[in-house]
Amino acid sequence: MIPNQWYAVLDSKELPRGRPIGATRFGEKLVFFRDSNGDPVCLFDRCCHRGAALSYGKVIGDHVQCPFHGLEYDSTGKCVLIPANGKDEPVPERYRVNAYPAKEKHGFIWVWYGEPRKEYPEINFPDDLDELRDQIQKQASNHISHHPTSLSMINVAAGILEKDGKVLIAQRHRNDTHGLKWEFPGGTLRRDEPGEYGIVRELKEELNLDVEVIRYFGCYTEPPLRIQYYLVRMISGEIKLTEHEQVAWVEKDRLHDYDLLSGDRIFVDRLRSI
Ligand code: FES
Repeated sequence: MIPNQWYAVLDSKELPRGRPIGATRFGEKLVFFRDSNGDPVCLFDRCCHRGAALSYGKVIGDHVQCPFHGLEYDSTGKCVLIPANGKDEPVPERYRVNAYPAKEKHGFIWVWYGEPRKEYPEINFPDDLDELRDQIQKQASNHISHHPTSLSMINVAAGILEKDGKVLIAQRHRNDTHGLKWEFPGGTLRRDEPGEYGIVRELKEELNLDVEVIRYFGCYTEPPLRIQYYLVRMISGEIKLTEHEQVAWVEKDRLHDYDLLSGDRIFVDRLRSI
């Protein structure tokens, strides 16, 4: 790639209003959406919180919202809202993702590949070259490599922790996606992170618990989520909440009394049979 140029990366028709789309360009996973004026925005497609793909989120006004815990990003890549902290709480500056200058012209979405500038050159594309435009549109479509679903899945690990005949469940923060639902605690895996490492890390970060994995317990897939469940045992630690409303130790037979996430409900039945 020759740097410091505009590149046509999408056909305008491929970028609807009101919905983000993901595409791999310049070897990077990018998310595109239109702001409330219809202008295109291009950001790195990985939430700075736990790495979920923003392209599976929602467009809210001028922002794209992460599908996982609802962080919202503006067109500069700055995170402007962390729902769990409340609307009035300022967001630390480190919460951001890369933004790429994007424009719409001559029927294409263009992205600037190169050093940021105060002013960017015009995008010149002779209007009378209809034949060339058709060719480029065809080429653009051929090169559109929207993230394949398998690569864009949000991989999550969930831990089933039993103690004295009771199982630990946690209630999601009221401002998260699926707010106030109950779940087996866990979270998004990092890129290439094995689930059995991820669940140990997540339970430490979310609940301050040191655990070890007893065994893999199964997987539930509801695109874009793929949740791997692990039976875990406590080594040490005292629960400190960082993301959840509350936790509860519940007898297996009583788990169905709680409003659990759909994937977790399936594993409650499996749990009762062991
Ligand atoms: S808000 Fe994006 S992963 Fe948590």
